[in-house]
Amino acid sequence: RTPPVRNICCVGAGYVGGPTAAVIAFQNPHIRVTVVDRDEKRIRRWNSQHPPIYEPGLNDILRVARDGSRQCIVCTESECSDGSSQCGGNGCASTTVAARLPNLFFTTDVAKCISEADVVLIAVNTPTKSRGTGAGSATDMAAFEAVTAVVAQHARPGAIIVEKSTVPCRTAELVQDTLSLHRPNVHFEVLSNPEFLAAGTAIKDLLTADRILIGSSSTPAGHRAAAALASVYASWVPKSRIITTNIFSSELAKLVANSMLAQRISSINSIAAICDATGADVDEVASAIGADSRIGSKFLNAGIGFGGSCFKKDVLSLVYLAETLILPEVAEYWRAVIMMNEYSRNRFVARVVRCLNNTLSGKKVTLFGYAFKKDTNDTRESPALDIIRTLAEEGPQEIAIFDPCCIPAQMEDEIRRFVGANFLKADGGPVAVYGNAYAACEGSDAVMITTAFDEFKNSATGEITIAGRPKACSVDPRPFEHTEPTEGDLLALHTYLQRMVTPATPVASVLDPLDRLNPFPTCTEDCPDCELEKATGTTGYGAGEEYVPKARLDWRKIHYHMRKPRWVFDGRGVLDISEMERLGFRVESVGRQS
Ligand code: UGA
Repeated sequence: RTPPVRNICCVGAGYVGGPTAAVIAFQNPHIRVTVVDRDEKRIRRWNSQHPPIYEPGLNDILRVARDGSRQCIVCTESECSDGSSQCGGNGCASTTVAARLPNLFFTTDVAKCISEADVVLIAVNTPTKSRGTGAGSATDMAAFEAVTAVVAQHARPGAIIVEKSTVPCRTAELVQDTLSLHRPNVHFEVLSNPEFLAAGTAIKDLLTADRILIGSSSTPAGHRAAAALASVYASWVPKSRIITTNIFSSELAKLVANSMLAQRISSINSIAAICDATGADVDEVASAIGADSRIGSKFLNAGIGFGGSCFKKDVLSLVYLAETLILPEVAEYWRAVIMMNEYSRNRFVARVVRCLNNTLSGKKVTLFGYAFKKDTNDTRESPALDIIRTLAEEGPQEIAIFDPCCIPAQMEDEIRRFVGANFLKADGGPVAVYGNAYAACEGSDAVMITTAFDEFKNSATGEITIAGRPKACSVDPRPFEHTEPTEGDLLALHTYLQRMVTPATPVASVLDPLDRLNPFPTCTEDCPDCELEKATGTTGYGAGEEYVPKARLDWRKIHYHMRKPRWVFDGRGVLDISEMERLGFRVESVGRQS
């Protein structure tokens, strides 16, 4: 019989642990889910109105599961349409609206939380090793191993221990060894349940998962444990999408999924180089091949290559696995994916330098995009970091950087740490970070698009699109440590809101849409500390509604600010090349023809 799961502990409150635990709790009001992390500051933020990561929809989930709410027990709509007896959500006519108690908790009390759990999810960071054997490709298991030892000491007998972190194949054996070392006569089942969510779409990916993968040992106890975990997901994921495998297949499948996705990007980037040399257009090639359902159309966007904390790390982990299994040809095959990624970046920068007469001396180059992908402030392994480093070697007068999602002060801090101590202007280097897109282009010789933010797409009118479901609050989605807004902030915020979203505002008068990137306080609907809710009331969108402004740059304005001959290098394929040329820019885009 499958043991009922009543209490889940998730160790690690990061990009995977936080959102995953939140969605599990949201979908299982009967299960108590506690996220533990020894980092007090991080836990404090998870318990505040300002969680440490920005993910669309996360605040809504937290509001229900962490804070409790009224919820229809039939259709699980989190709010009643009329606020009282009848649900009305999703066409549901139920009158059974019940108060929902909080069932998601964040704490630093690691031992207690682990000891009470039926299921312990281990979701800690597993980066690439930077020292010792396998440095540069093997997975650094230090944090994972340390947590496993703590779990072994405190878990209650019979608890199910789940690998959520991405780990090398056969890690489950090590976990079992650690468990039996610390608790020799106690039985624990170990499962592998890798996560497939992507940054920026975490909640959507969790709520509408393509598949849930659960690997277990092939004993009856292993199958029972897998069924128990499957029952947690079955609350919202169709059974046909819950795949069970042997434990090593599950561990390996995670690495292979990411490696295959990375390989597709490297493949299309290699074709982009051929397109450049032949006059073929990489987007046309991609859509022609993508129309074959055996190939599919996703992840064929050519450009400066993949970034992020996962692809490079996981391909390298696969390379290392092949090497340790003495399969050098296999290792070399996968290493080529990484080499092609580096080549794509270098080819892009080389093109910039070539077009600017082989010298950047005395010139200003502007980077649009610092995050590794759009709609996130995650900058881990961002292509922009490599590009800044390479450009700096050419001795430019200035490398200006602008990103609509990242906070300038944090960007500066990261540039100091990850690019080098002497790169920023303040430290005698060429790099300057801007909070305003137009200022970043002032006197610039070339703009390089390095992240595919919608804001950068060209729109001659400076058009504003209001995207996303209207709900709650995301005027400025960047996560901030909450600080009391000054009067000046509030005044600016009110002005901004009126300019941006009053439906009657003529488009032409909405200039400088990206001025929103001045430091407005970010806040949620219910935040008692600031005035944002009042401010949203002025928008004409109705109380409690949220709009997600997706303001586009006015490229005519950029044209005005730049220096002739006004180069634009599109490393992400977001611009309409002919339109840009019509506006008077010289445009180069990896493998795309105008
Ligand atoms: C990736 C996977 O997509 C997730 O399924 C996985 O769970 C996650 O890694 C993980 O292991 O944690 P993520 O790195 O967050 O997710 O983001 P992606 O959307 O996969 O983008 C990765 C990089 O590839 C970005 O820099 C993106 O700009 C680039 N990319 C993506 C391209 O250059 N071309 C494309 O066609 C698609």
